[in-house]
Amino acid sequence: MSERTEGSSTKNWRTSVAGQVDGKTVVRGYPLDDLIGNVSFAEGIYLVLKGELPSEKERKMMEAMLVACIDHGIGPPSVVSARTVYSGGNPLNAAVAAGVLTLGDHHGGAIEQCAKIYQEQLGADVTDVTAHARQVVEDFSKKKKRFPGYGHKLYKRDPRTLRILDLAKEYGFSGRYVEFAVAIQDALEAQSQKPLPLNVDGMIAAVISEMGLSWKTGKGIFIIGRIPGLVAHIVEEWNREKPFRRLEEGSYEYDGPGVRPVPKKS
Ligand SMILES: CC(C)(COP(=O)(O)OP(=O)(O)OC[C@H]1O[C@@H](n2cnc3c(N)ncnc32)[C@H](O)[C@@H]1OP(=O)(O)O)[C@@H](O)C(=O)NCCC(=O)NCCS
Repeated sequence: MSERTEGSSTKNWRTSVAGQVDGKTVVRGYPLDDLIGNVSFAEGIYLVLKGELPSEKERKMMEAMLVACIDHGIGPPSVVSARTVYSGGNPLNAAVAAGVLTLGDHHGGAIEQCAKIYQEQLGADVTDVTAHARQVVEDFSKKKKRFPGYGHKLYKRDPRTLRILDLAKEYGFSGRYVEFAVAIQDALEAQSQKPLPLNVDGMIAAVISEMGLSWKTGKGIFIIGRIPGLVAHIVEEWNREKPFRRLEEGSYEYDGPGVRPVPKKS
């Protein structure tokens, strides 16, 4: 073991993620050439994000969450954008970046916001999780804001959530945060009288909180999980479609002012 002390450097650019030690490239202290072939991609992702290698149960949970993010069809904004930017004649990296740039409050970005709420709201002092969930929903609705991690365009119950919930129970990650997440769903639905299911973003937010991952990693986890799907869509667009895709005639309309004369300049 090296004698290095983490954070002791006075240099401007510092990192504890990866670097060179005694001529070896290490990732969080583990030699990269030893990690190659010995850890899965999900284990490597967990290692860089959390700083430690996962246990077997943490690995399985991480794998499951990343697979849940991998793709959800051609419809979501990220895929439409990625394919459209490629279709305009740009390289794959620009198209992937365009897809990633759509990931915001309503698509993918909800994991970060939702995990922030869970981690900030569910302190050790909270004894009645259900009552606290009701209170949080009440406070949130006063702000007239949508609760991140809840609601879905297609589902009354998100099948990805249900699967992750089962796995969280199996692997031992169904603790207070998951209880809180489900109690918020129940409180939101009781209040609004419409289906507002805990969606895959909210479920992942609860599980990463159980795993001790910071809410700041939330959107990143979705991005890491979704990029393979974006790449596959772009390659498909490349192989299958003619360039310059545009909205079909008849699928859109102009509803601005009719033809009018441009004022003459004196
Ligand atoms: C995902 C989402 C865009 C789907 O929306 P949708 O099913 O098309 O729902 P609509 O935009 O038609 O809204 C329907 C009603 O439900 C309400 N609603 C929808 N999601 C809500 C939420 N998360 N919290 C509170 N109310 C919500 C809307 O305010 C609207 O209420 P109104 O009828 O009184 O105006 C929406 O639920 C949302 O913004 N969720 C939060 C962000 C999120 O979790 N995104 C990840 C999706 S996987």
